[in-house]
Amino acid sequence: SPILPPDLKSCSKATKSGSKDLVEYSCCPPTPKDLNNIPYYNLPPMSKLRKRPVAQDVTKEYIAKYQLATKRMKELDKDDPRSFMQQANIHCAYCNGAYKFGDEVLQVHQSWLFFPFHRWYLYFYERILGKLIDDPTFALPYWNWDHPKGMRLPPMFDRENTPLYDARRNPHVRNGTIIDFSSPRDEVTTDVGQTVTNNLTLMYRSMITNAACPLQFFGARYVLGNNDSKGQGTIETIPHTPVHIWAGTVRNTDLEDMGNFYSAALDPVFYCHHANVDRMWKVWKGLGGKRRDIIDTDWLNSEFFFYDENKNPYRVRVGDCLDTKKMGYDYAPAAIPWINCRP
Ligand code: C2O
Repeated sequence: SPILPPDLKSCSKATKSGSKDLVEYSCCPPTPKDLNNIPYYNLPPMSKLRKRPVAQDVTKEYIAKYQLATKRMKELDKDDPRSFMQQANIHCAYCNGAYKFGDEVLQVHQSWLFFPFHRWYLYFYERILGKLIDDPTFALPYWNWDHPKGMRLPPMFDRENTPLYDARRNPHVRNGTIIDFSSPRDEVTTDVGQTVTNNLTLMYRSMITNAACPLQFFGARYVLGNNDSKGQGTIETIPHTPVHIWAGTVRNTDLEDMGNFYSAALDPVFYCHHANVDRMWKVWKGLGGKRRDIIDTDWLNSEFFFYDENKNPYRVRVGDCLDTKKMGYDYAPAAIPWINCRP
């Protein structure tokens, strides 16, 4: 049977990824008042589409708005489910063993829940930011690392002492250094042109060659009780994880922030990175062949728990997040040059 919202009462300490160490603080969300009656979320009627812009192309005005919204989110009381810390903790709770079903820990990565979980997560994060600046059309930027222009940290995240900066980032990602998807731990020493070509070829593999069928793209089936047979989808493997490792600091023992599940969402660039991951889902569906959403009801009926922009708790279904336009947002168009990079 499908994965349902975790039992919030049993939420407990989380463990850092790749380690036995406990996370020093609790990642559990504030407990909803009526714990046994959490309603289903209905997508609100769409008024105006939120259009997610390319992170490299945004205007000064946009950056100012985004900074202000993030600043306000960071200033909310830490027990407010919309605060930056609580938002980051969602990732920690769903990915580091805070939630359990019996003896099994809930882990949304390395499985077919990867895309829908992060889609709902960003959906609410974006709506909260918009609410905090009173702009119902506010849309998150997307980091288009699938384009040569986007294969570096978007500059707005690289300004010290601004709300979008994270001092725990790896210093080698600063000042426009290019990322190498195949060796994200190292500074690029080879030719930039060669690195770009390799990255584009890896994109082609993850979107086309190795992702002709749904489970290859989304990741392995994950239902109650089958934690052992999980496996990640092509995009989750490359370039999603390399981007995390690249931005995480080797100096910090557990690759914080971006390189560890419990801390990744403490870096504001996390949400910009995941906006492009989310965009890849949409682009992939447009590529034809058997590239469609999964029709297994165990996937469609999987659920998560989130607070919305008004601090109300909800359960959300995977089956309700398949169409971004119905969810009220879309992506500003951008070229996909990897389409011509068959290996
Ligand atoms: Cu939930 Cu990019 O990881």
